[in-house]
Amino acid sequence: MTSTHDIEQALRGVVDPELGGDVVELGMIKDIDLSNGTATINVALTIAGCPMRAQIDGDVKRKVGALPGIDAVVVEMGEMTQEQRSEVMSKARFKARQDAAPTMVDPVTRVIAVSSGKGGVGKSSVSVNLALSLAEQGFAVGLLDADIWGFSIPRMLGVGAERLEADDDGKIVPLLAQGLKLVSTGLLVDDEDKALMWRGLMLSKALEQFLTDVAWGHVDYLVVDMPPGTGDIQMALSRLLPQAEMVVVTTPQRTAQKVAARVADMARRSFMPVIGVIENMAGFTTPSGEHFKLFGEGGGRELADELGIPLIGSIPLDPFVVAGGDGGDPVVGAHPDSPAAVAFTEGAKRLLELVPPAEDETCTARIDKLIEGLKART
Ligand SMILES: Nc1ncnc2c1ncn2[C@@H]1O[C@H](COP(=O)(O)OP(=O)(O)OP(=O)(O)O)[C@@H](O)[C@H]1O
Ligand SMILES: [Mg+2]
Repeated sequence: MTSTHDIEQALRGVVDPELGGDVVELGMIKDIDLSNGTATINVALTIAGCPMRAQIDGDVKRKVGALPGIDAVVVEMGEMTQEQRSEVMSKARFKARQDAAPTMVDPVTRVIAVSSGKGGVGKSSVSVNLALSLAEQGFAVGLLDADIWGFSIPRMLGVGAERLEADDDGKIVPLLAQGLKLVSTGLLVDDEDKALMWRGLMLSKALEQFLTDVAWGHVDYLVVDMPPGTGDIQMALSRLLPQAEMVVVTTPQRTAQKVAARVADMARRSFMPVIGVIENMAGFTTPSGEHFKLFGEGGGRELADELGIPLIGSIPLDPFVVAGGDGGDPVVGAHPDSPAAVAFTEGAKRLLELVPPAEDETCTARIDKLIEGLKART
């Protein structure tokens, strides 16, 4: 059964994007109450009108709501006193100094793991097209191909002979592919020695290296294309990037839905909240308007309802997806008016609402500016 201690652990995955620390270590959690499956969390914000409020509220609800046996999460928001505020600020500053970042991914980067229990449902196609759609909206987007041996992203983005290189500090620099910062084993393994080196590593170690030895730089969203199935990589990801959240891809078919349910269950156990479901291969409309439900119907909605999470999008079957994947020209860029591209773009917008980007200009920064402004006037 979930205890208040488990809740506190889960809350360590909620990062205050402004202060760069998790809400527990920063002392923002004033009280945790658990009764009859309802968790009530009292959060003290640095400033009541903080624009981060909605984001922290959503993150707390998802993280805690993902724990077994939690039916409802109530978030009570309060405001810190001046004294508490300066204490928190000094903690945050101390932390910033102490943190020899365990990974090179900024704690405020939104990490979205695209998973499914079953192979071939379109995880990689969804990852690439969502990442491109997010980039199109003006965000800095990284794409991590966590399918260490079954990598397919470089081909889908039309990368040819280019390989990853190291910078002067010996860190790997992501390859810029169609505007995305891309890292994949497919960009490493053309010579045998390197291939052997990677083969010798456990898969989770390979992932760890991608997170600790890659100079990701500023990235608003890091989309992670997960390998099929559950297991090592998923556990490693949630351990290394506590802010990671998951999007489940399923086909409209009922069997696919069962497998996806297993992944979602796994996500819950590894404390990775599930943002929502993306249904892929959802019907096909011929140019003359005839509609075929090749893989059944309604699986995505059913799974979303079952898990109590939103259906982020429903992507139709579209030959441009296949051609784009094989030819290195993803559908959202190559055929933006095609049914799948339109659905991907809508899905990305919905995703942005569900997991909004960390704001550049944050509460304290705003206050500092206001004060500076006032000073300037006097
Ligand atoms: N909406 C779609 N319409 C048509 N074809 C699609 C669609 N989505 C994916 N496909 C095709 O289905 C195949 C499998 O897709 P993809 O490689 O993205 O799946 P995956 O879940 O990543 O597979 P794996 O488990 O092997 O990593 C590819 O040939 C892809 O082009
Ligand atoms: Mg794949």
